Amino acid sequence: MRDRLETMKSEALEELKRAEDIQTLQELRVKYLGKKGILTEILRGMGGLSAEERPVIGQLANDVRASIEEVIAEKQNKFQQAETEKRLRSETIDVTLPGRNIGQGAVHPLSKVIREIEDIFIGMGYRIAEGPEVETDYYNFEALNLPKDHPARDMQDSFYITDEILLRTQTSPVQIRTMEAMDGEVPVKIICPGKVYRRDDDDATHSFQFMQIEGLVIDRNIRMSDLKGTLQQFVREMFGSQTEIRLRPSFFPFTEPSAEVDVTCVHCGGNGCRVCKHTGWLEILGSGMVHPRVLEMGGYDPEQYSGFAFGMGVERIAMLKYGVDDIRHYYTNDLRFLEQFVRI
Ligand code: DAH
Repeated sequence: MRDRLETMKSEALEELKRAEDIQTLQELRVKYLGKKGILTEILRGMGGLSAEERPVIGQLANDVRASIEEVIAEKQNKFQQAETEKRLRSETIDVTLPGRNIGQGAVHPLSKVIREIEDIFIGMGYRIAEGPEVETDYYNFEALNLPKDHPARDMQDSFYITDEILLRTQTSPVQIRTMEAMDGEVPVKIICPGKVYRRDDDDATHSFQFMQIEGLVIDRNIRMSDLKGTLQQFVREMFGSQTEIRLRPSFFPFTEPSAEVDVTCVHCGGNGCRVCKHTGWLEILGSGMVHPRVLEMGGYDPEQYSGFAFGMGVERIAMLKYGVDDIRHYYTNDLRFLEQFVRI
């Protein structure tokens, strides 16, 4: 038995020497030391030994097992270390590589103009209101004093979704929604920026979708002079302190009287040039005193309360402010165009 144990030991050590991975080590452990392995097999013969020999052989078997275990453990350690080193080598990061440049974004010029207009009106005590882009016929037209057969509906060709639902053609429906939400309280002082939609063919000055900013003030004793003073203050902050306004009589179903508002040309200061078609003036918005019927429909008694309203196209303001001659530039989002506004 002693010989068999010694032979097994040297065979095992020889095989272990050739082992080159952890998998082989495991297999050898099973082969020599496993429950059905060679050592167990040899020790089966213990029964036939004398009482003196038994502990001696037992001790030898233990030593053989221990030396095989030791070699396995040693090699296993070595393999594991090599593995770790290999992984670390493959995962090293080259910290000297230049980083990838992530281009810095900027606020879109239309958003810039909207923020600027909002700031001016917030400075005058206004609040920002919003309303849905998919609107009912009632809010978009009817409650604004435009009944179904009203010819002025033709002024705004609409995208209808059903007979009663459409994409809003103007931000004016927010006037009614705000009045309803205020539930008869005064003062009402809001501006509402938002997208509107019309069935227009796109060209340099028209787009089937564009942005408007609506304004509404309701209180006791609101007069046309309040409208004029407010808009005068607004254009001075927006286009410069020398800017003047003029009001021209006009028509909107939801205001009476109505006025179109012009500013002195931002390009020539009023002397006349190509931009203002040599008139010295540029039209920038529609406005007027809120029609008594509209006040009524919003839940305000026109005998007690009065108000003014106005609506302007954001793209037009932005075109005038930045000297842009085609509305489509604001939508095609060519970076060469947009980048010019990064530092403005
Ligand atoms: N909603 C009008 C339009 O889209 C603009 C407008 C004119 C709004 C006069 C108003 C207003 O509030 O009083 O053409």
